[in-house]
Amino acid sequence: MKEEIVNLLTKENKISEKTIDELKQVDINDFKSIVEEIGKQETEYIKADKIAENLNTKYIGKNLYVFHEVQSTNNIAKFLSANGIADGSVIISEKQTAARGRSGKVWNSPLGGAWLSIVLNPHVDHSKLPLITLATGVAVAKTLEKIGIKNPEIKWPNDIIINDKKVCGILTEAVAKFNTIENVIIGVGIDANVDIETFPEEIKDYSTALEKELGRKVDEHELIRIFLEEFEKIGELFDNEGYEEILKEWRKRSYSIGKIVEVKEPFNKCYDGYVLGISKEGALVIEKIDGTLEKVISGECNIKK
Ligand code: BTN
Repeated sequence: MKEEIVNLLTKENKISEKTIDELKQVDINDFKSIVEEIGKQETEYIKADKIAENLNTKYIGKNLYVFHEVQSTNNIAKFLSANGIADGSVIISEKQTAARGRSGKVWNSPLGGAWLSIVLNPHVDHSKLPLITLATGVAVAKTLEKIGIKNPEIKWPNDIIINDKKVCGILTEAVAKFNTIENVIIGVGIDANVDIETFPEEIKDYSTALEKELGRKVDEHELIRIFLEEFEKIGELFDNEGYEEILKEWRKRSYSIGKIVEVKEPFNKCYDGYVLGISKEGALVIEKIDGTLEKVISGECNIKK
């Protein structure tokens, strides 16, 4: 049965009807234990104890699961959080077979990247979710600064950009009941030591990797450890309602402010405008061509010039 569960975690649509029926018989707690056990086994090159040995956090990453291959760390995080795991648990995978990006896009996750999800139980309402997303972008940017990247920038809401190319994406997903958030899953994908040449044509020209920018390989353990520490620090600021400070850090590294953009909001609302800044709720403030102002809280925002 363990093998079937491994297949279920890693391969999309490869499970036979018979196996699905068998899996349905497995008690959810047994299922959870097996998933946890797999996430605690020895992996190829990302080792949980190498991240943990110098990790200076109070709760973020104290509970670490490292998989060799899963469909999506966000999916594992969602499953485990729905079945009770500690606040601040981190799920890492050396590669992902069906990782998700924002707006339903596919996220390339070969060996060599830092693909992880953090489970949070933040006790906040929905209105604060955009700020958690922005705060995560700041934590990634600070991490990259610490490992030697000169000027990482943040494209709203939280793509991390180096020399006009994307190096990291963040997918925040909330598990909510009524207007209260039960859990937030923060998925972070950093192109650390991946070969961008293997990426699909349509994103190759807009993507970069830390290895390419630094001219040397990055130690994924160090990268993940520093990120978890930066994430906890900014999380503490968030918990103490230091929202203005978070926004200040974001604005300092903004790639979007002062640029002409094409905005694509949900339900196909599409327009061009000039980015004036971000509001205190974390929305992008746009001056449209006709002079009216718009606040964009979700959607795509592509830079035109
Ligand atoms: C984006 O579109 O920019 C967001 C990409 C987020 C990718 C990460 S990798 C770890 C986690 N697991 C997923 O399936 N997605 C996120």
